[in-house]
Amino acid sequence: MTDVLVKPARNIIGSIRLPGDKSISHRYGMLGALAKGTTRLRNFSTGADCASTLACMQALGARVERNDGEITIYGCGGSLKKPTAALDCGNSGSTMRMLSGILAGQPFESELIGDASLSRRPMRRIIEPLTKMGASISSQDGHAPLKVRGGKLEGISYKPAVASAQVKTSLLFAGLFAKGETTVEEPIRTRDHGEVALRAFGADLGRDTDSVSIRGGQRLKAIEAVIPGDISSSAFFLCAAALFPDSNLVIDSLLLNPTRAVLLDVLTALGARARMMQVEESHGELLGTITIEAGALKGIKLAGAQSAALIDEVPVLAAIAPYTREGIEVRDARELRVKESDRIAAVAKNLRAMGAQVTEYEDGLSVPGGQQLHGAEIESEHDHRIAMAFAIAALRAKGDTLIHGADAAQISFPEFFQMLEGIAER
Ligand code: S3P
Repeated sequence: MTDVLVKPARNIIGSIRLPGDKSISHRYGMLGALAKGTTRLRNFSTGADCASTLACMQALGARVERNDGEITIYGCGGSLKKPTAALDCGNSGSTMRMLSGILAGQPFESELIGDASLSRRPMRRIIEPLTKMGASISSQDGHAPLKVRGGKLEGISYKPAVASAQVKTSLLFAGLFAKGETTVEEPIRTRDHGEVALRAFGADLGRDTDSVSIRGGQRLKAIEAVIPGDISSSAFFLCAAALFPDSNLVIDSLLLNPTRAVLLDVLTALGARARMMQVEESHGELLGTITIEAGALKGIKLAGAQSAALIDEVPVLAAIAPYTREGIEVRDARELRVKESDRIAAVAKNLRAMGAQVTEYEDGLSVPGGQQLHGAEIESEHDHRIAMAFAIAALRAKGDTLIHGADAAQISFPEFFQMLEGIAER
């Protein structure tokens, strides 16, 4: 466990480019292993979570090489091999949930394990629909370790009880191996990288207003891609820039997929000025250059679909909330309780340690504005987004902040603290 001391800053200025988006890296890693041919990926996520995905795909028979920042995946053309040991998903819920969909369609049994945090996270949300499709999955009362016995799958039409892109993607991946059509209904639209990636690898998908479907038996073809910068990682730096009146931060080649870019709307609504330039498309994903400058930060109430779309960004938004004029309230975000940590409790506890007043709800929290934080000792709770969110809160605090377990940032963004030092003026 590493501690990092974060000193207050005077300003945020710079021009940066970020490692590839985690959600896209997971999906390209899995589909590249399934596809026919050689997939070459540049700017693949440097986080430990995506390394877990690649290690699992290797254990399932795909050859993976890393060279000069490029990942080469020699695809298995649809036929994975039975692994000789349990597949270790580490801290990664995306790996366990989405890979279960693929394994549900394989003619062998495999076991998925994870670390202590992942072993506490709910898996019934994938077990139930994959079982309905014909797989047989045993668990520890709905938690990992999971034993997945693949079967002959039948397409189903399914409406998940929670809005989850991981569940949707898991079922679409399983649908590739199923007889007939698999349809996932989603009343609240979640990130669409699963659908976009499947199309990029050559699959044909149907889309209705609030459902997406896939026909079984389709073959995937390898791709060559440069993965756009991770927009959830950018959230820390964008929020940091929003805190300083004279800031100017440019982030290029950043993912701007509309199902992920709600943060830009929120920062604009708060009063920051964000500009988008050089917007282009790559394999169905939008990317471009973002410039952000601060303005007087007002406040905002987030609920419903907006909370769902911002789920990974809530910790850092809550961490800058004390520095806004009217504060930030987040509701309908119960899912935060079952992320890598209970993020509602972790955010409330650490904000209070820095001297803030916070009201905690079962499904969110409310942080009044106009509060000056002081430096404190922060517990990351082994959660990457908590460690990084409080490094941002620390930039405008009085005094230094010590982040215990700062190495949790390795999960999604190992370069975080170094890059933060590069753009923070002291
Ligand atoms: C992800 C979906 C979200 C998000 C997670 C990554 C994905 O989780 O919180 O960090 O890549 O599909 P849910 O699907 O559980 O909402």
